Amino acid sequence: MNTKKKILDVEEVIRKRRAIRWFKPDPIPDEILCRILEAGRLAPSSKNSQPWHFIVIRNKDTLKELAKCTYTGDFLPDAPVAIAVVLENAKLESDAARAIQNMILVAWKYGIGTCWITNFWDKAKKIIGVPMTGNFKLVTVLPFGFIPEEEKPRGKKKRKPLLAIAHEEKFGNPLSFHCK
Ligand SMILES: Cc1cc2nc3c(=O)[nH]c(=O)nc-3n(C[C@H](O)[C@H](O)[C@H](O)COP(=O)(O)O)c2cc1C
Repeated sequence: MNTKKKILDVEEVIRKRRAIRWFKPDPIPDEILCRILEAGRLAPSSKNSQPWHFIVIRNKDTLKELAKCTYTGDFLPDAPVAIAVVLENAKLESDAARAIQNMILVAWKYGIGTCWITNFWDKAKKIIGVPMTGNFKLVTVLPFGFIPEEEKPRGKKKRKPLLAIAHEEKFGNPLSFHCK
């Protein structure tokens, strides 16, 4: 695989990752796509239940149809590929989150951005052939594409300060150590 770019370490990926809603049209090499899927497969889950399915979608018409099934993902068809994450008989939806985050972080390592799109209505499942009977939940469709240069430099992430959310021993107690 041609990985001319510097490989980022996990903390750097976490620091730099942003939701990406614009993509280069260049296709994602199958080898990288496999790594992204593998990152999802290796995620931990409650009782190791692995309740997920990952559907790779490249067909533009399908992506356009899917985009019409949510108010918050009109950029979906702009990506060269997407992965739908479907849970089957999952006890905890958080299982999906672990797999999704793994995929997002590994994608970023290769300069590929994505954005978690939610709020799909049931028609979306039908479009991609997910059984309408049984206990299947479409959690997200993640669009994946190389990040355009103009998307890269962005300001600091808008996050609550650590002191507002980290406590020591009991809720409300400030940390006794200093974090930079
Ligand atoms: C569970 C979840 C659902 C999200 N749903 C959407 C969505 O439907 N559409 C969208 O454009 N962004 C969505 N986002 C992206 C968030 O808006 C974004 O991650 C957040 O504003 C923080 O920005 P950052 O990812 O650039 O750090 C979602 C993110 C998460 C984690």
